[in-house]
Amino acid sequence: MSFRIIGTGMYVPPKVVTNDDLSKIVDTNDEWISKRVGIKERRISENEFASEMGLKAAQQAIADSGINPEEIDAIFAATVSGETSSPSMACMLQNGLGLSCMAMDISAACSAFIFLLETAAAFFGLHKEYQKILVVGTERMSGITDYADRSTCIIFGDGAGAAILERGENYLDSVISVDGGDSVIKIPHTVGSCPWFTRETESPYVHMQGQETFKYAVTALSQDVTTLLERNSLTMEDIAWIVPHQANKRIIDFAAKRLGVSKEKFFCNIEKYGNTSSASVPIALHELAKSGQLHRGDKLILCAFGGGLSNAACLIEW
Ligand code: COA
Repeated sequence: MSFRIIGTGMYVPPKVVTNDDLSKIVDTNDEWISKRVGIKERRISENEFASEMGLKAAQQAIADSGINPEEIDAIFAATVSGETSSPSMACMLQNGLGLSCMAMDISAACSAFIFLLETAAAFFGLHKEYQKILVVGTERMSGITDYADRSTCIIFGDGAGAAILERGENYLDSVISVDGGDSVIKIPHTVGSCPWFTRETESPYVHMQGQETFKYAVTALSQDVTTLLERNSLTMEDIAWIVPHQANKRIIDFAAKRLGVSKEKFFCNIEKYGNTSSASVPIALHELAKSGQLHRGDKLILCAFGGGLSNAACLIEW
């Protein structure tokens, strides 16, 4: 059982922070960031939490699909930077939309949007009465970024992306891998104030081994795309677009080279938003859909990688 995507939405906060702005607070510069990462600017929330940004993206996806919000049977959401652990992000969105449908979060960091799609596909199979599901990735990464660490603070940005899925046959295949551990990417919670707990608190920000992440990402991205092509007897000629997680333009370029495909096949908007974690794939998908370069019947591969470590990709027909 599967679905087709009938609407997309996105929201990014209005505040633009350029590479030059960051060079005033850490020892970096526009040339280094542009060349090594491909980011020119990112959006940073001044007064909105992740749930508020997610709600705006969800409302846009609902409007784009033309459905009535009451038609939504379930909400699946993802975030690593929500303002509450409980209620879940999905519960906050359900409340914001004034709905009473089932709602839950999936945690898979930057790969999460594809985990949300996978979960939705499973729920369409499980609940024959479900017709429409809302999926949302929303992040205030600036809240979990150390602005004294130049190797991470240049990378992340804030934003939200959403999609409305309707029961259908267009989610064609998927691949998901997890290699659990915290040695490469970690976002610790504080340990709390329990007077009997003896372990030390680590700073509650993104901790990342940049080069390890880079290598993992290039391998994961190229392997996942290859698996989907081979398993479905397709070649790159059959694929209109690859929509990758926007983490580093060089990761995308390296993966394109490894796959022997033109960089132009990869939709890229990292220069405007940086890495918005779980929001990055749905924001890219929304911008691609609205650019007029995507047509019904086109085959797409969405792919992502990140904390977990986790990586995932799916083949869909638009
Ligand atoms: N500005 C200027 N110099 C910087 C810098 C910055 N923002 N960040 C790091 N450097 C310096 C380092 O200190 C180092 O200097 P040194 O040689 O004097 O010690 C030099 O640049 C090279 O550092 P290195 O870590 O090898 O750089 P890199 O090319 O690997 O780029 C990342 C660093 C983080 C941009 C890159 O590894 C990356 O993008 N990794 C993947 C991150 C990612 O995708 N994360 C999200 C996963 S979902």
